[in-house]
Amino acid sequence: MEANTLVVFVNGVKHTEVNPSLETTLLQYLRTELCLPGTKLACGEGGCGACTVMVSRYNPTSKQIRHYSVNACLMPLVALHGLAVTTVEGIGSTKTKLHPVQEWLCEKGENCCQNQNAADTKKKICTKTFDASEFALYDRTQDPIFPNELQIETSYHTKSIKFTGATVQWCRPTSLEQVCQLKQEYPEALFTVGATLIGKGIRTGKIQGVVVSLSHVPELLDISSDDDNIKVGAAITLAQLHEYIETIAEIKNGETKAGLETVLDMLHQVGGHQLRNVVSIGSSIASGGGRSDVLTLLLAMGATSEIMNTTDKTIVCKEISQRMNDDGTCLLEQQEMITSVNIPYMSQGEHLYWHKHASRADLNLASINCGMRLKLQANSHIIEDLVLCYGGVAKRSIVAANVKKEATGKAWGKDLVAVVCRLLESDIDVTINKDGSVDYKKALVSSLFLKFYLKINAIVLSQPDPSPDMSSVRSHPLSKASEIFEDVPPEQAAEDTVGRPMVHKAALQQTTGEAVFCDDLPMYKDEIHIALVLSHRVHANIVKIDASKAESMSGVLSFISFKDIPNQQSNIAEHVFADKEVRYEGHVIGAIIAKTGAFARAAANNVLVEYDDLPSIVTLEDAIKKENFMAGHPVVLKHGDIDKAFQESDVTIESEIAMNGQEHFYMETQICRVVPTGEEQELEIVSSTQFLSELQTLVSEILNVPQNRLTVKIKRLGGGFGGKEESPIYVAAIASIAALKYNKPVRLVLDRRTDMRVTHKRQETWTKYKVGCSKSGKILAKEVSVYTNAGYTPGFFGFVPPASLFCLASDQGYKIDNFKLSAYTCLTNTNPRAPMRGFMTPPLALLMQAIMNDIAVKLNIPDAQIHEINMYTSGDHTFYNRELKDAGSLKVSWETCLNNSDYYKRRTQVDNYNRSSRWTKKGLCAIPIYRDVGMGFFRHMGQGAALVNIYKDGSVWISHGGVEMGQGLHTKLIQVASKVLQVPCERIHILETNTNCIPNALATVASHGSDLFGMAVKDACEKLVVRLKPYKQINLDKPWEKWVMDAYLDSTSLSAAGFYDRGPEYYQNFNNPYDGGKGHQYFVCGATVAEVEVDCLTGANRVLRIDATLDLGRSLNPAIDIGQIDGAFVMAFGLFVSEKLEYDENGFLVSKDTFSYHIPGSRDIPTQFNIQLLNTDSKEAVLYGSKGVGEPPIHMGIAAFMAIKDAIIASRKENGVAGNFQLNSPASSEQIFHLCKASSTYPSGI
Ligand SMILES: Cc1cc2nc3c(=O)[nH]c(=O)nc-3n(C[C@H](O)[C@H](O)[C@H](O)COP(=O)(O)OP(=O)(O)OC[C@H]3O[C@@H](n4cnc5c(N)ncnc54)[C@H](O)[C@@H]3O)c2cc1C
Ligand code: FES
Repeated sequence: MEANTLVVFVNGVKHTEVNPSLETTLLQYLRTELCLPGTKLACGEGGCGACTVMVSRYNPTSKQIRHYSVNACLMPLVALHGLAVTTVEGIGSTKTKLHPVQEWLCEKGENCCQNQNAADTKKKICTKTFDASEFALYDRTQDPIFPNELQIETSYHTKSIKFTGATVQWCRPTSLEQVCQLKQEYPEALFTVGATLIGKGIRTGKIQGVVVSLSHVPELLDISSDDDNIKVGAAITLAQLHEYIETIAEIKNGETKAGLETVLDMLHQVGGHQLRNVVSIGSSIASGGGRSDVLTLLLAMGATSEIMNTTDKTIVCKEISQRMNDDGTCLLEQQEMITSVNIPYMSQGEHLYWHKHASRADLNLASINCGMRLKLQANSHIIEDLVLCYGGVAKRSIVAANVKKEATGKAWGKDLVAVVCRLLESDIDVTINKDGSVDYKKALVSSLFLKFYLKINAIVLSQPDPSPDMSSVRSHPLSKASEIFEDVPPEQAAEDTVGRPMVHKAALQQTTGEAVFCDDLPMYKDEIHIALVLSHRVHANIVKIDASKAESMSGVLSFISFKDIPNQQSNIAEHVFADKEVRYEGHVIGAIIAKTGAFARAAANNVLVEYDDLPSIVTLEDAIKKENFMAGHPVVLKHGDIDKAFQESDVTIESEIAMNGQEHFYMETQICRVVPTGEEQELEIVSSTQFLSELQTLVSEILNVPQNRLTVKIKRLGGGFGGKEESPIYVAAIASIAALKYNKPVRLVLDRRTDMRVTHKRQETWTKYKVGCSKSGKILAKEVSVYTNAGYTPGFFGFVPPASLFCLASDQGYKIDNFKLSAYTCLTNTNPRAPMRGFMTPPLALLMQAIMNDIAVKLNIPDAQIHEINMYTSGDHTFYNRELKDAGSLKVSWETCLNNSDYYKRRTQVDNYNRSSRWTKKGLCAIPIYRDVGMGFFRHMGQGAALVNIYKDGSVWISHGGVEMGQGLHTKLIQVASKVLQVPCERIHILETNTNCIPNALATVASHGSDLFGMAVKDACEKLVVRLKPYKQINLDKPWEKWVMDAYLDSTSLSAAGFYDRGPEYYQNFNNPYDGGKGHQYFVCGATVAEVEVDCLTGANRVLRIDATLDLGRSLNPAIDIGQIDGAFVMAFGLFVSEKLEYDENGFLVSKDTFSYHIPGSRDIPTQFNIQLLNTDSKEAVLYGSKGVGEPPIHMGIAAFMAIKDAIIASRKENGVAGNFQLNSPASSEQIFHLCKASSTYPSGI
């Protein structure tokens, strides 16, 4: 085999690459070289799984093929020599044959429903649990076809190979002898197996020289066991180790088996499957670090590693703890390497414990972890050895030395706890505050020991375990769900799909990887690329920009900045490029234009910017203190006589609540491609935007080019959530400036970190409130001041404050007659804020629930009663005198949800549980949901347009102003067209959204996309039906195609524009809400009951059950609507419980990648998730009686938040703390832990 020739099989096809680039990842190779775009780039750092592919490797000795998943974004291409890769395109395709799993994923939505019961045949119920009978047993003979050549030609696996790049040489030896030779030849050579760290080093230029891959060295791939140990070759992956231990654990028993299960639990919590499939045990010990899960447990176990001197081949075997550097890496001399690791079995009387506490249950580095081992003398409770090891607390995992010394020879028992907790204070010096403050971690050090103590008591004294381990993977059962919705009436025509759970139109394309997103568009030959230059100051004057070095670099065309903006007078010019002043860290200063993305990124790091720092305001608190408000603020809204109402109140409560911001975290980052046609400044802009017409307007303004020269279009977005309204405009503006400058196609894709640093976020709020109520809990008066952080510029957000007052006053489902509301929009030197799913109502709904809870606690009245006494009922009017026609369904939803969830019975059960459970508490909470849909801010915000064409073959093409971003808009509108035209959905197609076809469309936001654009489609189709009627009437027995052709031959237009205008009565002047506007189109009512469990010793929590009822009128498509509700709850759980948007004290964004910002993971899904759609006849719903679904269910997450508060109340009560308290959003585990007050009672109170 020639050096520098790589052979890799992809989807069965052989690819040979001579001199492959060492910087290229498998993902880049698949997407760019092989044009296989089904594998996506969403984070580029192993944090999301969008790039997952299967790798298959043949073992010539065992003659077995191992298939495993990997993150293609981390995997260097050169690591794949002699291996086979299967991408989503290789599994199945709509053009050939679908894989059963692809088919199942698509069809489950449509075919999952059975009639609930004979008594209520109208209702359909779907239980979404996987049913084993639907799957065939795993059959090895059905393995994907593995290339014959890789099985026959053993040299692929046995012959060493090397690839030489400009700065790095990648060697893959196939024997330990060769490894030693290489090490002698290149003493500084680095080893690698999974290359998750080394690969990144090579790509960023931090690693140069020789890298030796140990992945094919048989001596390092051996795994065996004797009576005392499992001996694991250094190149064995964590997944292989897991597999091996699983088989061994089956034949062991007692403490040995329990110990192995603890190791399995730990292994299961290291990253995701894709990571564990490549990361080796040797690398885990060599690279270690203070947060390593593997190292922390192995240290506690007293594991040893064998270290070979590659010069003289001698091997020493030492306890891992004896070969550790201060930074937690393995202490190795240059010529040394780890060859194996010995994992000891636990013997009789020896107990092992593992706990990982992280801000997300899975796929997360530990905030703090621990490995603990106790050995008791035979048949006694006398301690022979006690090893407590902690990770996440310092640069390296720490073993509590004094505890070990003092505890030896002492009796295991209650008295020991106080001694150990005292010793731990000095033994474990907490210095790291990642994912938790130092104080919190210090407290957790004792807490985790207490958990261990309780666990051992359960084993040794056979006591029930009072502290179930929420971090354990095994403690999390598979989630179950049920979905109930009403069937269409029996008289509805079979071919009419409206109201039926039809599969998402692009489901097959999504599951086969054929769905085309912006970055999947093929490259033009002369396409140029852009990398942004961002501010490294939060607030400063720009003194000088020196791009000379960057511009002289290879492949670079030029640097552009403010001076290159054609219309510098435009209002958005300073948001495109900072002019003289930067106003947040991440403010875009300029951009490098280059021939490739890699050239552009390299040069962008070499643009030198000199700053002169200015005073900055980085926190909301600071902005309030310095009164840095938007001009004209506060905006105040009053109603009734608040002074009198407070005087008449029996009880007055004053408090405050804060709510954090949120990252939009769409899977597809900001991206656009601009192609100049070369004529009259015409540009075709493909942008991942929710608001095509505004992008067209503002890019035209900044370029000084008329709007009619710009075509903006997009097929679909990979998520938007409001984050693709404003930010895409600036991205497209930069790309357009470059495209016009060079008259070449331009692509601008933000990598995840840049995206997070540059773009808008959800607003953060702090609210002060005072409420007065009667003895029965009826609210009589409410005074609220809400402070909102708008970042450095209010942007689109500028019109929010008066509107939010409006919502606060009228909404959230409660009738309050006397109020005074003041809204302050505060400016800080942080990212600009943007609307995000739910827009301004989540903090307001959260506030109302905090108020309800405060009243219930203060008056000692069950909170459900407080909701009911204040809730709107039918016939009520809002403060601006709008009759609430749908308010009746609020009560119905509430009662249905309480009944479905067995609320009152479970309330008693939860209270009983809390009385008997000392360290974990459950919480239960029911909240109503009442959310407006439709925007009344401006008169023009209720219009939609569509264009429907019928072609001569009878096929139908629709264009409308809405954007498809996974929410199923196109599917619903095809259903509508199919109903009106009476043609099957399969004959109808929506290509894309395009400003040429539909000008001036509103943004697809605010849950009213299907209302506005659906009504427009309906209008257009109805026009066509009228035109076709004469041809149908004379040929009733003939097919649709015949009527179409006849109409065409008769010169009848088969193209119709449709339009919908909601009407002027909805427009609401928020500065004067009493002038009669309706404000919103309608309200969506519902209710949610949440049950959670909280670990008072750590603050960890999990959602046990959610029951949600939502009145969506006559749902157009229950399957899609229920999917929206599922997604909304998970996003809301992130907002109210787990996600943390974080800036440091200097105003630098800390949460700027997947390692530091954690959207919910699979274990955050409620264990039981029940959804019921209430199908009611609404007098105000728009399209066939349906209502919008996107935003209202976001409020469901507040139920989980309040249930956590309920659990905290139970813990505080037990620990002697009564009365109201403040819980801020997100309900972080640190906050929960401190509020529970459990830690104040131990060690003495255990
Ligand atoms: C997305 C992601 C998530 C993660 N999540 C977790 C987590 O939840 N918990 C956790 O504990 N860790 C986690 N990690 C860290 C990960 O486990 C370590 O980075 C791992 O050790 C890297 O293994 P590798 O085989 O890819 O290392 P490589 O990149 O191949 O090598 C890493 C280092 O080890 C050295 N080395 C390798 N083998 C030997 C040897 N035999 N002798 C001497 N030196 C050797 C190399 O020279 C190099 O310096 C995560 C990492 C990523 C990227
Ligand atoms: S793109 Fe690879 S894990 Fe996110």
